Amino acid sequence: MKKLWGGRFTKTAEEWVDEFGASIPFDQELVEEDIEGSIAHVTMLGKCGILPSEDVEKIKAGLLALLEKAKQGKLEFSVAYEDIHLNIEKMLIDEIGPVGGKLHTGRSRNDQVATDMHLYLRKRVNEIIELIKELQKVLVEKAEEHVETIVPGYTHLQRAQPISFAHHLLAYFWMLERDRERFRESLKRINKSPLGAGALAGTTFPIDRHLTAELLGFAGIYENSIDAVSDRDFIIEFLSNSAMLMMHLSRFCEELILWSSQEFQFIEIDDAFATGSSIMPQKKNPDMAELIRGKTGRVYGHLLALLTVMKGTPLAYNKDMQEDKEGMFDTVKTVTGSLKIFAGMIKTMKVNADVMEKATKQDFSNATELADYLANKGVPFREAHEIVGKLVLTCIERGVFLADLPLEVYKEASPLFEDDIYEALKPYTAVNRRNSAGGTGFAEVRKALEKAKEIINTP
Ligand code: ARG
Repeated sequence: MKKLWGGRFTKTAEEWVDEFGASIPFDQELVEEDIEGSIAHVTMLGKCGILPSEDVEKIKAGLLALLEKAKQGKLEFSVAYEDIHLNIEKMLIDEIGPVGGKLHTGRSRNDQVATDMHLYLRKRVNEIIELIKELQKVLVEKAEEHVETIVPGYTHLQRAQPISFAHHLLAYFWMLERDRERFRESLKRINKSPLGAGALAGTTFPIDRHLTAELLGFAGIYENSIDAVSDRDFIIEFLSNSAMLMMHLSRFCEELILWSSQEFQFIEIDDAFATGSSIMPQKKNPDMAELIRGKTGRVYGHLLALLTVMKGTPLAYNKDMQEDKEGMFDTVKTVTGSLKIFAGMIKTMKVNADVMEKATKQDFSNATELADYLANKGVPFREAHEIVGKLVLTCIERGVFLADLPLEVYKEASPLFEDDIYEALKPYTAVNRRNSAGGTGFAEVRKALEKAKEIINTP
């Protein structure tokens, strides 16, 4: 089949070679952005007197008709036309005749594809920002129900100190807030127009890059035409922000998986987000959490893949850069899906507050309280730590917990102990007292909740 760029060729490639080089199987995802970009371009060509207005009107009408068909999923793409840009151009020419061939005046596929990607990511990143916010909202709602739910806090996955479950949930709120900030910040760089950079050097036609930028809602233009067509930083940045977000979700998934195990029983994942086993009738598996944890790996993969693709490409455009698309599309799909599933999973999970609370009474996570108690009475903390460490050892030998030791034993360890230690040892008291800024004390957690709500209520 004759190519749109076939003039200097005497032979055409075989179909299997075309197939290898084609991006249409995946870049058809850009169809709407591609047409929108073309409409802006041709409008500008008219305004700048580069094309007569009759031509512009015909081309615009043709493009709008194609856009309508695209929205209805009625366009049929062909590998013979390589990519979305040539497919649309061919369809336009078929639709309105040779005048359609004027659309590409003063433009290259190099600035065209970059424009499409910027438009596409701007839309998707805005959606992702909203989905993160939705998840933050769900976290705040859950946290509000559990300010006074006490749960063991861990370090090294060993019981460390009791905490408010809301405080734990809000830790993720703040991680997500940073993610949202990063995506928002990245919009500054995504929202720039490469259109009009041409193949790499600009064009001889008296185009107006600011006009196309404005028509497409971009905040500005790339300053350098070579940079405009060869930059893929904005995609790498998107993949990097996505990798970080997925890492956060994955850590949370790991906790949900642990918490829903027989060993913890802190939560129960709703039936709607779990699956059974084909052989073991008793099983309820936290599949969705595992899957999000697993999918994190593929997002990391896409990031590394594109960094590697770009590291050896000389300026300006190289076909290698066609490899930027599949990972980006897949990441959008993965991140969007994961955020939606995650919000549903958190919203519907059952929190076994009684099991959590019981756990805090059956460990040594209140040992710090005793050390603090002595330190408050003037014992150097290091000595207090030693004394309490010995008391823990005594407990282990006797098979009891700190609250079970009689006062004589405490007195023997240090005469400074009085019977108010039993109050101090209560996990509820231990949590309630930790009201240093950003701590797990109930008063601090309530303040944090107010702050979090303020943030999610800010548009
Ligand atoms: N399909 C190509 C891509 O995705 C479009 C740009 C092609 N430009 C070129 N000069 N071959 O990168």
